Amino acid sequence: MDPKEHIDLEKLPSHVAVIMDGNGRWAQRQGKERVFGHEQGVKAVREITEAAAELGINYLTLYAFSTENWYRPKEEVSALMKLLVQTIGEETKTLMKNNIRLQAIGNLTDLDMKCLAELKEAMRITSGNDRMTLILALSYSSRWEIVEAARKLSEKAYHHQLDPPSINDDLFSQCLNTAPYPDPELLIRTSGEYRLSNFLLWQIAYAELYFTPKLWPDFTRNDLYEALIDFQKRERRFGKITS
Ligand code: FPP
Repeated sequence: MDPKEHIDLEKLPSHVAVIMDGNGRWAQRQGKERVFGHEQGVKAVREITEAAAELGINYLTLYAFSTENWYRPKEEVSALMKLLVQTIGEETKTLMKNNIRLQAIGNLTDLDMKCLAELKEAMRITSGNDRMTLILALSYSSRWEIVEAARKLSEKAYHHQLDPPSINDDLFSQCLNTAPYPDPELLIRTSGEYRLSNFLLWQIAYAELYFTPKLWPDFTRNDLYEALIDFQKRERRFGKITS
């Protein structure tokens, strides 16, 4: 039976976040350059984005480039940037066709000019779309984001625009890059690694975590369906007890 038929569409997570890992290993296993794995990874991005939108997921966040990724060999970084520019440019039409809004989180000023320009243009063009929001985490790390939020709040306090005792969960969340979006309820990581790699650490406080050994280029819409079925079997208590 098609795994899709086991998904309860009434109980979908509103926001799914994905750590897309394993592109390099996927390529190396075939005796190819790591970049080939990233290229194949783009195909999986396309398939999963389409599948998530079709199901009715409202937000999909993809960890596309971490602040730590800048320390990879220069050739790999520039190939990834090129791939991002090319993909964002080529996919804008598809995003429009599928009524998907593109957004981004991360230290975007770190991106090379071409990439930033392409990204801003795609975000502008798709800004009115409302079927699903696709959020790319680019030059993103959770610690960077949290430190930035702390900096913003302390500057306000220093200028007497904020009373420190008024700082709470909500106010802190409003200072994060993810302020406009609900927290993810499901976090998926591919490639068999059991790590969070500095991704959305604040936002996943109550998220369900799903790890799969599949490498990202092999992750298909059926794998997304399996993750959602697993999510729907779990009892989410948010620290409380069941009545
Ligand atoms: C992790 O695999 C993947 C990345 C660092 C980049 C992900 C990028 C893409 C899928 C392509 C561009 C994406 C978009 C949204 C257009 P890895 O290189 O860490 O793999 P490894 O752990 O096997 O080395």
